[in-house]
Amino acid sequence: MTTAMVEKYKAFHRLLNKTSRTLVDRRFRQQGQCARGGSAASGLDHRPDAVVEQRVSYLGCPKRGLWTSARASLPSLVDGGFARDYPMNRCRSFGSVAGEIQRSSKFATLNSDDVAHFKEILGERNVVQDERLEAANSDWMHKYVGSSRILLLPKSTDEVSRILKYCNSRCLAVVPQGGNTGLVGGSVPVFDEVIINMALMKQVISFDKISGILVCEAGCILEDLISFLDNQGFVMPLDLGAKGSCQIGGNVATNAGGLRLIRYGSLHGNVLGLEVVLANGDVLDMLGTLRKDNTGYDLKHLFIGSEGSLGIITKVSILTPPKLSSVNIAFLACQDYLSCQKLLLEAKRSLGEILSAFEFMDSVAMDVVLNNLDGVRNPLAPTAHNFYVLIETTGTEESYDKEKLEKFLVGSMESGLISDGVLAQDINQASAFWRLREGVPESLQRAGAVYKYDLSLPVEKMYDLVVEMRARLGESVKVVGYGHLGDGNLHLNISAPKYDDAILAQIEPFVYEWTSNHRGSISAEHGVGLMKANKIFYSKSPEAVQLMASIKKLVDPKTILNPYKVLPHSLMSYS
Ligand code: FAD
Ligand code: MLT
Ligand code: ZN
Repeated sequence: MTTAMVEKYKAFHRLLNKTSRTLVDRRFRQQGQCARGGSAASGLDHRPDAVVEQRVSYLGCPKRGLWTSARASLPSLVDGGFARDYPMNRCRSFGSVAGEIQRSSKFATLNSDDVAHFKEILGERNVVQDERLEAANSDWMHKYVGSSRILLLPKSTDEVSRILKYCNSRCLAVVPQGGNTGLVGGSVPVFDEVIINMALMKQVISFDKISGILVCEAGCILEDLISFLDNQGFVMPLDLGAKGSCQIGGNVATNAGGLRLIRYGSLHGNVLGLEVVLANGDVLDMLGTLRKDNTGYDLKHLFIGSEGSLGIITKVSILTPPKLSSVNIAFLACQDYLSCQKLLLEAKRSLGEILSAFEFMDSVAMDVVLNNLDGVRNPLAPTAHNFYVLIETTGTEESYDKEKLEKFLVGSMESGLISDGVLAQDINQASAFWRLREGVPESLQRAGAVYKYDLSLPVEKMYDLVVEMRARLGESVKVVGYGHLGDGNLHLNISAPKYDDAILAQIEPFVYEWTSNHRGSISAEHGVGLMKANKIFYSKSPEAVQLMASIKKLVDPKTILNPYKVLPHSLMSYS
């Protein structure tokens, strides 16, 4: 055997036998084979229903307290973002060079009669005007801060309908809100819009074990649905780092992608039906539970990904796959991006039907995680690795799946696609590996100011943008690349000590032009929200955007639903 071969076999032996039992101090909640606990993993343990039930713990929640340090650098945020003390009728668009937005004078201002009317519909308790408004006015990143004076918590479709009917008649603008984990400024008011949070609509309505079809209210927290289904022997076809707070209604409204899309496809495929309340209060019953139904236009698709701009989703019917018993997770290192790409192709080819996640992060992302999160450790030897890939397989046959994965790993090791790797030996290690990947957004938040871009690009070109951005921005910032490589989805994040218009001007419009030139999408999965409403033309033709605006005007003629978001302001009559 040559020395090179000996080295390869040694490396392979390391990979298959590596255990790192002391990997993390933190113990995540363990549920069945699914090794990831959302709230702990994402740092998102605040729940909007706690707004009502546990007011003190919500506002005083230690995890939210994390952001006080970010807020300490608020002067920059105030300069660059939406600040509460900014004049109420003007807002400067954060993270955009595009300038200010003017409050539309066509919208009414909340008065005491309105408040009395809402109390009549919802009862005193579910009309909130106290300090809990602070959290509801501010997004997860604390970039977008509105100045709404009222938060409504409906408990039924009928209540949502009565609220909207009234707001429409009064021309009061509203913002639908789920778990408020959105990353594009869609879930919070821009000015004084009425906030309608769906947290109290959290009932599972039915679950059919034969078909796997779950029907539930829109305010169900994703993680609760994951646990519910786990007990029934099923899984949600959707999983993301914000699962501890985000709601299924919010997921559908954003057409969230996440960590399982490579296996189960998008919500456009999995959502079978919706109940939606339109701006005028009409209830649109599309809550079908059929896999096949070709009677006319499939209207539910209009609402999937509409980001609260066309209606409020009140109920969801979703197809869920059975839980499979064998889950394996490998955490691997690649020397260069080309190897990551080849590894993806090889994984698809050799793992086939058992591949359930293919996530990547670069070494800069890994450093940010290691430097900002507690209880995490790089499970691989401390050599300089440039890229990390997390591969998950989910199948039915433990021995068959393991054999398949090991064969794939050996092959990849021998061909030099991976330079090191480790296979999770137990549920704690699996959690720890996932924590490294899912912890990237949280660690970036802790590191300071973040310029966040969520792009779909051809996989072979994707990382060129990160490299170009690094050359463009120099050493004063960290340019981080991670994301759902298996879906062609790059999360390009620029981490800086504080927000700075000069940095922003270097990033935008360059990042959008680059993406457009490569026929990519400027929003792969996070949506358009406020952040990219005026940028939509980079990814959609004028004709397509015009049709979207026409649809918006048809279903919401007074444009009370989530104004200023999703569609370009030039096409909407906000003045
Ligand atoms: P919100 O943030 O409250 O709202 C998002 C949008 O939907 C807003 O425009 C709002 O008006 C609208 N909306 C909410 N509820 C309704 C409703 N019932 N009816 C109509 N409109 C409504 N996203 C991904 O796609 N993939 C990921 O992997 C992912 N990971 C994340 C990880 C972290 C740590 C964080 C903080 C966010 C992540 N996100 C991800 C973004 C976010 O979690 C998703 O967009 C999620 O689907 C939003 O759900 P939500 O309930 O929090 O909605
Ligand atoms: C992720 O994949 O981690 C999320 O989409 C959040 C982010 O992009 O930061
Ligand atoms: Zn993502």
